[in-house]
Formats: sequence, structure tokens, C-alpha cells
Amino acid sequence: MPGSRWSGHPRFLLAFRLLAALLASMPFLFLVSNIAAQSLGPDPGQEVTELLGLAAFQLLIATLCMTPLKRWTGWSGWIRIRRMLGLFAFFYATLHVLAFLQFILGWTDLWVTFTKRPYIVAGALSFLMLIPLALTSTQGMMKRLGRSWKQLHKLVYPSIVVAWVHFIWQARSDVGEMVFYGLAILVLLAVRWKWAGSRGMIPFVRG
Ligand code: HEM
Repeated sequence: MPGSRWSGHPRFLLAFRLLAALLASMPFLFLVSNIAAQSLGPDPGQEVTELLGLAAFQLLIATLCMTPLKRWTGWSGWIRIRRMLGLFAFFYATLHVLAFLQFILGWTDLWVTFTKRPYIVAGALSFLMLIPLALTSTQGMMKRLGRSWKQLHKLVYPSIVVAWVHFIWQARSDVGEMVFYGLAILVLLAVRWKWAGSRGMIPFVRG
């Protein structure tokens, strides 16, 4: 792929980006169509919250796959969709939090909920770590922050681990799914560790 002419062609790259955007939009389109058809089951609020949380989590994992894919295939197209996937993950995470506040909590007992339920604390921690990443994802911020940008963006590693903890903490069934995601994250982190060493993975540390 790296040497082939078509894989570097602007039209091919555009089509690839559009396809990735379409795939990343699928959970949202699925949700909208289900809301329109009123087919979200007996507890729509719960269903919406779970679907959005899962989409955020899966897209975060997909974002972390892009650098290894680039290194293994030698094709830079993967890196061109990395930021977009990360922003989609943040988009779903934000909607997930809003859906929780609106449909499950009803904007009441915020402090009690966030301090008394450990899995909510884990979710909030993961979300808080994603905020600076989304805010500094532009080319302008990348230039402005220079070397610090890379150090800051290592926050994605603890964020995904804590999101996984949040996921397993509230799970009632399907341990296999949790193990699958856990192993995927472990492999992705191990690959990073091998390439960049431990310093390359600790936020705010020059690696
Ligand atoms: C303030 C932040 C957050 C809050 C309050 C929150 C709250 C919740 C709640 C209430 C559930 C459903 C629990 C149930 O089924 O009873 C849930 C599930 C979930 N959340 Fe979060 N969450 C937060 C952040 C995040 C973030 C940042 C991610 C991922 C990046 C995430 C991923 C998930 C996943 C994967 C599930 C499981 C969905 C499923 O069961 O299919 N959450 N969260």
C-alpha cells in the first residue's frame, strides 16, 4: 500500500475520510432512526445513554489503533483520520454525559451521584481527561503548544483505561465483552510501551 499510487491519490484519501466519517456517524444515525421509529425499548433513556457510551468507548479505541496501523502498513492515510475519530469519540462522550444527566438523573442530586457511585466518578474522570484533548485538537493549538501538545495528548491513555474501568464497574452481564475490550486496550498500550517506553506514555512527561 505505501508504494501504490492510488493509496496516495487525493481522491482516494477523500473517499477514505468520508467512509470513516460515515462509519463513525453510524451510532448517531442508528439512534436518530430508532428515536424516530420509537423503537428504543421499554427504557429509552437508559438505551440512549448506553449506546452513546459504547460508541464513545469504541471510537476511542479506534483512534488509538491509527498509529499502529500506520506503522504496520506504512500508509499515512490512517493518521489523516485519527483526529476526526478522536473528535467523534468526544462528541459521543459528551452526548452520553448529557443523556445521563437528562434521562437518568434528571439534573438532580448531581453532587451525591458523582461522589457516591464509583463508576460515575470513573466516567467523569475519563471525560474530564478528554476535554483538553478535544479543545487542543486543532492545527493552531498543535502549533501553539509545540512539544507540550504531545505530552498533553498522552492523557488519552489514562482516559481510555479509566473509561474501561467505568464500563466494567457498571456492567451486569457479558463479561466476555469487557474482557475483549480490556485485551484490545492492553495490546494497544503494550505496543505503545514497546515503541515509546514508559516515559512516552505518561502525560506531561517528555518522552
Ligand atoms: C461524567 C461522565 C460519565 C457519566 C456520568 C457516565 C454515566 C454512565 C451511565 C449512567 C451508564 C449506564 C449504566 C447503566 O447501564 O446503568 C454508562 C455506561 C457506559 N459508559 Fe459512561 N459515563 C460517563 C463517561 C463516560 C466516558 C467518557 C465513556 C467512554 C469514553 C463512557 C463509556 C461508557 C460505556 C462503554 C458504558 C456501557 C454501555 C453499555 O452498557 O453498553 N462513559 N455511563
